[in-house]
Amino acid sequence: MNYSIPKHVAIMMDGNGRWGKKRGLTRSEGHYAGAKTMQKIIDACIDFDVKILTLYAFSSENWSRPEDEVNYLMHLPVKFFNQKLPEFMRRNINIRISGNLAALPDPTREALMKAEKKTGNNTGIIVNFAFNYGGRDDILQGIRRVIHEVQNNDMNLDMMDEDLFQQYLYTKDLPDPELVIRTGGEKRVSNFLLWQSSMSELYFTDVFFPDFNKELLYEAIKEYQRRTTLHLTENQKWESTIRG
Ligand code: FPP
Repeated sequence: MNYSIPKHVAIMMDGNGRWGKKRGLTRSEGHYAGAKTMQKIIDACIDFDVKILTLYAFSSENWSRPEDEVNYLMHLPVKFFNQKLPEFMRRNINIRISGNLAALPDPTREALMKAEKKTGNNTGIIVNFAFNYGGRDDILQGIRRVIHEVQNNDMNLDMMDEDLFQQYLYTKDLPDPELVIRTGGEKRVSNFLLWQSSMSELYFTDVFFPDFNKELLYEAIKEYQRRTTLHLTENQKWESTIRG
């Protein structure tokens, strides 16, 4: 059995709105509950020794939500990082942001950028917030930047390969996720990490994100371990058994 923990786990935190509705609450209250669960999932990833956690917090498609919901989702990072930054510093958590920050309201962009800057030298778990993120936009902005550099003679196109292009994506120096989890019952990729998840194991659960927890995350990791064992060669299986 392959008992290795995926180094990078990415989560599509879906089902907040339906979770709220089921309880007679607003969709925004569902997002608030989702933000609480998010904190517990960060803790669980630290316990499991996951090195990088990417969270799909606001997609480039989410702008089409009702205005009050979008406003709430824009306000959440301000509230969240105001409260949590001191703790993240104490716990050596490194915050990264992936997405088009230029299009965000000033307070939201400032809160996200401040969190990234302040925790930039922390060496513990990397928590990467995909905010105003779209996989197609990620690839397109990378292409635009490459063209710009080629036009300025800062790059020779012959140098371009997959490893180099990765440096132009919002996720820059982060390795690709081995495991991508989607909660909330939908079985779609929804414009998340299109380039980065080309080899990832995909795990879907019907559980709404606010009800997701450490045990359910462990189930996903066990499924990842089971599937990747099937991919191992006989020799690798033997080595993995003697290493435990
Ligand atoms: C999708 O559920 C979830 C989102 C659009 C937002 C997720 C955000 C958080 C969990 C908190 C983010 C917090 C910070 C600090 C960045 P949905 O609304 O699509 O649910 P539904 O499928 O039931 O409608």
